[in-house]
Amino acid sequence: MKDQASALRQIVDNLKKQRMREPGEGARIICVTSGKGGVGKTSISVNLGISLAKKGLRVLLFDADFGLSNIDVMLGVSPQYDLSYVLRGQKKIGEIIAEGPGGISFVSGGSGMNVLLKMSEIQLAAIIDNLVLLEDAADIIIFDTGAGVNPLIMRMIRSSQETIVVTTPEPTAIMDAYALVKSIAADVPDGALRLLVNRAESSAEAESTLQKFVAVVKLYQKTDMDLLGYVLDDPSVSRGVRIQQPFVLSYPRSAATRNIETIAWKLLDRRPETANAGIRGFLSRMLGRGL
Ligand SMILES: Nc1ncnc2c1ncn2[C@@H]1O[C@H](COP(=O)(O)OP(=O)(O)O)[C@@H](O)[C@H]1O
Ligand SMILES: [Mg+2]
Repeated sequence: MKDQASALRQIVDNLKKQRMREPGEGARIICVTSGKGGVGKTSISVNLGISLAKKGLRVLLFDADFGLSNIDVMLGVSPQYDLSYVLRGQKKIGEIIAEGPGGISFVSGGSGMNVLLKMSEIQLAAIIDNLVLLEDAADIIIFDTGAGVNPLIMRMIRSSQETIVVTTPEPTAIMDAYALVKSIAADVPDGALRLLVNRAESSAEAESTLQKFVAVVKLYQKTDMDLLGYVLDDPSVSRGVRIQQPFVLSYPRSAATRNIETIAWKLLDRRPETANAGIRGFLSRMLGRGL
């Protein structure tokens, strides 16, 4: 009992810390990615974001999948402008933030993500103060990225302090997830990579997938991954997508919602130790220069 109470107190303390950031500490930045496409990155980003927002955190979802961006479709909200307007100096960052359901905010990276990486230092310096304002809008920023071993995605992963790698229990998805982890493991600190198994048929299948994957990564890549948890295969997920209402809102009692809630609490409990200097640190790492 005593252990349980102290564990709960710790979670509550962590939650408070995340709401009341020290000045200059920056938002917590989480990158959601996968080896194979279609494994559930966007479904998880959206619903996890809403679940965290329900706990009182200010959550900003950033659609950084420039190939197949579809957060807007899942949220049933289409923002008028994307990041490229900010990079061209036509809009301020505040003007491109849209309100999503369940208390989350949402930014579309659009073609801006590619443009950002090609900018010169001078061009970047001119807009960086603008980008850093994103931080004022959020305690947690979730980047929903594309899939695969792509140089831009790899840079985003290396720059994020935390990355959630999503896979399904299917061997093809697992092989692709492993290829991705293999190519980044050497560059990221232990525990920064978190594994999430989506569409598991049972908790036993999910647990065994998680355990085996993490054991192989530890053995061959000498990297400790964090077992974040799983989401069961659940028709409420695709029903939510079809009616454009995230399942945590439209099916609050579904198995998938329960799984997402568990994951949200775990994330709040496992806050990274080191300060990541928020969006400024993220951008400077991503662009490989000091800002
Ligand atoms: N846990 C789940 N249970 C059932 N269907 C799911 C689950 N997760 C994802 N799906 C289905 O898979 C589709 C693709 O998911 P999505 O989140 O768009 O993947 P990604 O962003 O990785 O491409 C969704 O539209 C949904 O129908
Ligand atoms: Mg997606």
